[in-house]
Amino acid sequence: MSKLLIIGCGGVASVAIQKCCQNSDVFSELCIASRTKSKCDAMKAKLEGKTRTKITTAQVDANDEQALKSLMNRYGPKTVLNVALPYQDLTIMDACLACGVNYVDTANYEPENTDDPAWRAIYEKRCKELGFTAYFDYSWQWAYRKKYEEAGLTALLGSGFDPGVTSVFSAYAQKHYFDQIDTIDILDCNGGDNGCAFATNFNPEINLREVSANGSYWENGRWIETKPMEIKREYDFPQVGQKDMYLLHHEEIESLAKNIPGIKRIRFFMTFGQSYLTHMKCLEDVGMLSTSPVEFEGREIVPIQFLKTLLPDPASLGPRTKGKTNIGCLFSGTKDGKKRTIYLYNVCDHQACYRELGSQAVSYTTGVPAMIGTALVTSGVWNKKGVHNLEEFDPDPFMEMLNRYGLPWTVEESPETVG
Ligand SMILES: NC(=O)c1ccc[n+]([C@@H]2O[C@H](COP(=O)([O-])OP(=O)(O)OC[C@H]3O[C@@H](n4cnc5c(N)ncnc54)[C@H](OP(=O)(O)O)[C@@H]3O)[C@@H](O)[C@H]2O)c1
Repeated sequence: MSKLLIIGCGGVASVAIQKCCQNSDVFSELCIASRTKSKCDAMKAKLEGKTRTKITTAQVDANDEQALKSLMNRYGPKTVLNVALPYQDLTIMDACLACGVNYVDTANYEPENTDDPAWRAIYEKRCKELGFTAYFDYSWQWAYRKKYEEAGLTALLGSGFDPGVTSVFSAYAQKHYFDQIDTIDILDCNGGDNGCAFATNFNPEINLREVSANGSYWENGRWIETKPMEIKREYDFPQVGQKDMYLLHHEEIESLAKNIPGIKRIRFFMTFGQSYLTHMKCLEDVGMLSTSPVEFEGREIVPIQFLKTLLPDPASLGPRTKGKTNIGCLFSGTKDGKKRTIYLYNVCDHQACYRELGSQAVSYTTGVPAMIGTALVTSGVWNKKGVHNLEEFDPDPFMEMLNRYGLPWTVEESPETVG
C-alpha cells in the first residue's frame, strides 16, 4: 500500500495512470501532477468511482526543483513516475534524492536547449570519446548511481517499451534461451494508420529530434554511425505484414552493450512509410526541426516547438488510429553448443487499446510497462539500490505482468532474420 506521484499528464501518462488504477493493491494512493492541472483533473474525473486508488492532483513545473521538493514533501510518495519529458529527468532525480523517493522514467535525459555552451562542451567531448552524436545518452543519469545507492533508493531508467520491454526481453532471452547472445536486432513496427497527412504518435518534439538524427549501432565493442535513414531493410512482421524499416540510434543499445556479456552487435530498426519520411525531410529542409531559437515578429520562437503546436496532439489520435504494432527483439546466439535464433515480440492493436483506455497503441505500449516497472520498484520485488536499467533485474515478474496487464508476448523459434 503505497503513495505514487506521477509527473506529466500526456499520452503515455494517461495509460500509465489508468493501469496503476487497475493495480490498487500496490498503488493505494496516486497524485497526478503536471504543468497543466486541468488535464490532471480531467483524468481524475474519468477514473472516479472506477478504482480503489485514491487520486489527488497538483500543478507543478518539473523544471523547478524547489517546487518538486515541496510537492514531494507535502505528498510523501514512495516512488515518482516521470512521464513528463526527458528535459526534466535530472531535476526530478535531484528532487527524489533530496526527498528520499524512488525514481522511474521512460526516456533518458536530453537537454531542451542544445545550444547551451556548458552542455555542448560535455556533449562534444562525449561524441569524440564514445563515437555517437545523439543528443541523449545515459551518462548524465548513470552519474547518480553512487548517490542513489548511498541513499538506499532505486532509480529505474527507461521503463517504456523501447527502451523498457526490449531490455526485459533481452534479460529473459539471456536467462531462458541462450548461453551466449551474439546479436540483437530491436524491431519497432507501427503498422497503424491515423489518417492524418503527418502526425507523430508520441511527443512530436522528442520524436522528430530522435528520428531525424544520425543512426548508429554497436558492433565489436564500438559505435558505428550512419547518416539519417541510410540503412533500410524490409521485414515481414507477424500479424502486420511486410514493412520498410530504417536503422536509428536508440538509447537501450547503450545500456545493453554494457549489460549483455559478450554481445557482438546491437541494432535498432523502426518502420516508416514514404509519406512520413517525405514530410519530415521537407520540414527539416526548411528549418522547422531546428531547436535553436529564431526571432519572429519581435519575439524568440523555437521552430520545433512551434511545429508541435501545429501537429495533432498524439493523445488525441486514439479514435482514428487503426491497425497493429509489432515490437520485439530478434536474438541470435548459442544454447548448449547449438546455434539458435528467436524473435520475442508483442503485437498490440490500436483499436483494442482505444476501447480499453481511450488511447492509441504507442501510448499503451509505453504506459503499461511504465506502470509495471513502477509497481516492481514500489513493492520491493525489484529492490537493487542505485541507478539501473531494466535488463539488470530478474525479468520473470515483469514478463508475467506484461501478460496480465495487456501486452502478451510470443516467442518464435527460427524466425526470418535481418540482413
Ligand atoms: N520508452 C518508450 O518506449 C517511450 C515511447 C514513447 C514515449 N516515451 C517517452 O514518454 C514521455 C511522455 O511522452 P508523451 O507522448 O506522453 O508526451 P506528451 O503527450 O507531450 O506529454 C508530456 C506531458 O508532460 C508535461 N510536461 C511537459 N513539461 C513539463 C514541465 N516542465 N513540468 C510539468 N509537466 C510537464 C506536459 O504538460 P502539458 O500538458 O502542459 O503540455 C504533458 O502532460 C516522453 O519522455 C517520451 O520520450 C517513451
